[in-house]
Amino acid sequence: MTVKNLETPIKKHVLLAICGGIAAYKSAELVRLLRKQGCDVRVVMTHSAREFVSPLTFQALSGNPVHTELLDIDEENAMGHINLARWADVVIIAPATANTIAKCAHGLADDLVSTLFLAATCPIFMTPAMNQAMWNKTITQDNIRKLESYGISFIGPNAGDQACGETGYGRMAEPAEICRHLLAESKTGVLQGVKVLISAGPTREYIDPVRYITNRSSGKMGYALARAALQAGANVTLVSGSVNLAAPTNLELVQIETAAQMYTAVLSHAGNNDIYIGAAAVADYSPVAMETAKIKKHTEQTSLILHQTKDILAEVARLPNAPFTVGFAAETNDLHAYAQEKLRKKNVDMIAANWVGQEQGGFDSEQNALEVFWDNGHASFAMMDKNPLAKLLINLIATRFNEKNRI
Ligand code: CTP
Repeated sequence: MTVKNLETPIKKHVLLAICGGIAAYKSAELVRLLRKQGCDVRVVMTHSAREFVSPLTFQALSGNPVHTELLDIDEENAMGHINLARWADVVIIAPATANTIAKCAHGLADDLVSTLFLAATCPIFMTPAMNQAMWNKTITQDNIRKLESYGISFIGPNAGDQACGETGYGRMAEPAEICRHLLAESKTGVLQGVKVLISAGPTREYIDPVRYITNRSSGKMGYALARAALQAGANVTLVSGSVNLAAPTNLELVQIETAAQMYTAVLSHAGNNDIYIGAAAVADYSPVAMETAKIKKHTEQTSLILHQTKDILAEVARLPNAPFTVGFAAETNDLHAYAQEKLRKKNVDMIAANWVGQEQGGFDSEQNALEVFWDNGHASFAMMDKNPLAKLLINLIATRFNEKNRI
């Protein structure tokens, strides 16, 4: 179990990916500053980056061989792209060109940098650098927003005079500024290195091959929690029911449909995680048996026999090596009483309760309000967007998690 000690300097493995832009020369200074802070830096370069600065410069500054080829037999043997992605505690793409940003936003992986971006499960930062008109283009801004929604952090760009002679936003952030951001993130990430398992979305309980019972959960709260946990430095595994949302790329995604599949997925990961957040709306009942053929409408009335599903949250809390366990409670009435009863009965560390069936908030809404309960404690979060709400909840979970592990 990893409990963060804020006083300990963090020896980070930093994977620096350099794309082709005049700002590539600033990345040499970035390597020097990161090494001065005790980071182990490995550099990968796109082909066009090599037109601007020689790999030899980065090899000398980082003290490590520079990687340039996706399919190079020698490099694959020494440290292939998957190994490099696994090695990294943080990936920084500096400079990030409009082309690489667009490729990453669309999941293309046709060179070493874009492939590493897809393979990395650690936090990823991008420092854009491009002509101001290219930066201001709607398509570039759409790509940035898309990447932000996947949990990618951006540093800069700054405004000022550009190498092309124009003035505006598009200058890469200064190396000292980038270094400060990276180190601040590692020092203040309240879940740095903590393993967090999150369940999200609805389940589908099949009646026959074409029909199922489900609920109104959109998965938005669980996905917002996954992004907030990533931003707090956690290694995240997301077990997700069927939702219409894009998952961040820098986490492990396990897609399931039924409550039984969610049970198997969560229980197989729970023992390896420090925190479990059960944000999924798991069906409480499932048809006793799924018909193998489509049911025909022969009779005027019909009925379904359902049996109770296993309570995933309670089972996780019962494990001998149980993670810090956080449940949700969706209530239409008596929220405080029901939430506290669930906290006690399921023996979990924390319950975040929200009203459902109201005009605002809850299922399929962009917003939510939460009443959070733990042993002898309570916090209220007013109605707000699910992203900031998720950050507040992650901070509270981190505080309680650290307090519990100090005992
Ligand atoms: N939960 C679970 N497995 C189930 C049912 C619920 O893990 N089979 C979890 C949910 O993910 C949530 C918490 O239990 O974190 C509470 O879910 P909720 O539906 O509010 O409560 P239930 O326990 O199902 O009780 P009830 O429906 O009677 O309110």
